[in-house]
Amino acid sequence: MTLRLGDHAPDFVSDSTEGVIAFHDYLGDSWGVLFSHPQDFTPVCTTELGEVARLIGEFERRNTKVLGVSVDPVATHRDWCSDVRDVTGHSLNFPLLGDPERKVADLYGMIHPNADNTLTVRSVFVIGPDKKVKLTITYPASTGRNFDEILRVLDSLQLTANYSVATPVNWKDGEDVIIVPAVSDEDAKEKFRPLVAPSPASGLRRRDGAPLV
Ligand code: BEZ
Repeated sequence: MTLRLGDHAPDFVSDSTEGVIAFHDYLGDSWGVLFSHPQDFTPVCTTELGEVARLIGEFERRNTKVLGVSVDPVATHRDWCSDVRDVTGHSLNFPLLGDPERKVADLYGMIHPNADNTLTVRSVFVIGPDKKVKLTITYPASTGRNFDEILRVLDSLQLTANYSVATPVNWKDGEDVIIVPAVSDEDAKEKFRPLVAPSPASGLRRRDGAPLV
């Protein structure tokens, strides 16, 4: 199954290192990040789990729950957790789903037969509070993910969910944003003027870069 942006994020019930999880209930009104690992005890995955554990406060600050998934069973995940702590210095502080029957992997299309018939690739799904897919990224097994980028995209998604803006190349939270072209200059002045500091550096600009005066 190929999930595309805007698709409903499939619900599932799965065992995890934190007990049985009913995905949608677990997310509640939060945002969600679901990410897959090819296999337990693989070195790249170990570094990724440690990094997400280190960043958990950043995800919480963004009202976002993270869940990892690997096609090994939860019993194996538990042994792996000790490894993650030993190697990275961070203990797992989010659920890791066991998916030996590949239920979650199949629902989310995490197995790419041209890469490997049985193991998941490194997929990332960001899911909004409306349970719609907001972001998909797929990395090959040999490339560890950049979770700072996932946080950056969450910032952009959460901003653009609430305001008629878009975020430019390499944008980071706090930097200038672009008011979408559908908003007229007049409306932009009305809607956004109180939100920006009155300095030239952070002033309103049109999409072509000209200041909005
Ligand atoms: C790893 O996580 O280290 C890994 C997994 C599959 C292929 C290559 C590396």
